[in-house]
Amino acid sequence: TFTPNAFVADMVAELKEKLQDDKVVLGLSGGVDSTVAAVLLNQAIGENLYCIFVNNGLLRKNEFQSVLDQYKGMGLNVKGVDAGDRFLSELAGVSDPETKRKIIGRVFIEVFDDESHLIKDVKWLAQGTIYPDVIESVSVKGPSATIKSHHNVGGLPDYMKLKIVEPLRMLFKDEVRRVGASLGIDPELLGRHPFPGPGLSIRILGDITPEKVRILQEVDAVFIDGLKSWGLYDKVWQAGAILLPVNSVGVMGDERTYEKVIALRAVESTDGMTADWVHLPYDFLMKISNDIINKVKGVNRVVYDISSKPPATIEWE
Ligand code: XMP
Repeated sequence: TFTPNAFVADMVAELKEKLQDDKVVLGLSGGVDSTVAAVLLNQAIGENLYCIFVNNGLLRKNEFQSVLDQYKGMGLNVKGVDAGDRFLSELAGVSDPETKRKIIGRVFIEVFDDESHLIKDVKWLAQGTIYPDVIESVSVKGPSATIKSHHNVGGLPDYMKLKIVEPLRMLFKDEVRRVGASLGIDPELLGRHPFPGPGLSIRILGDITPEKVRILQEVDAVFIDGLKSWGLYDKVWQAGAILLPVNSVGVMGDERTYEKVIALRAVESTDGMTADWVHLPYDFLMKISNDIINKVKGVNRVVYDISSKPPATIEWE
């Protein structure tokens, strides 16, 4: 059986031995995996760990600033880089899901590479890769049709001549959370739902504009805050909203509207490899649907995704 305390003690010792006085750079995403990796490394090598948190403009509402503040409060040596405009301008006019991922992966590496060159004599790149990432990346390269290219595994350009250290590579998500708890990380942070690296870009079907990002951030905030206030957030493995590339007819007062459709998705899972849709209470769905349509300008219809994985995936792109 897996014991988090023993894992932490062994891993911190192993990291000290391996990294000695070397400088290490790590990209924080706001998610559980990179955060736990950072705190582990921070215990092992302290200020020699340089964390970079990039805003790709596709995070949840207010997430960049609030998570950055939280990281600083945890004593991590972290730099926030706001590159939202750069990502959104490179994505303008792009609809194909895999192209979106590739652009985001490339721009992320460019931004990250620029930042890591500012750190003198950095030797290592640390990543919060966990076991399911490793497996899914292998299947992408396998003989079967391409599934999805997860940009946070591999894909490192040659000009970044850094050695790689991945302390969570053998762990499943629940084990990562338990390690995080034994490191004293805030339970709210540890309980955060997984969120894809390409962020809201793959939940905006079709092309991405700043206005669509704004709409989806507002909708997502209503949904996620609602899950929290109804005590449902921790019962769900992952939840989010998808902005569909269709308009539907509605009526507001005496007027006909022709506005965007939102799909809500909430799934139960243990590792993301398979997932069931969650039977959220009808009262909750009714309230959230009304709130979204009343509060978010540009949306007049909400639907709920009742597909399981397989054959559907969790994300729509
Ligand atoms: P799917 O949609 O493949 O998602 O059922 C499984 C889990 O992976 C997340 N996901 C991604 N994470 N980069 C990531 O870092 C990606 O390109 C990506 N695509 C999907 C998804 O949110 C879910 O947790």
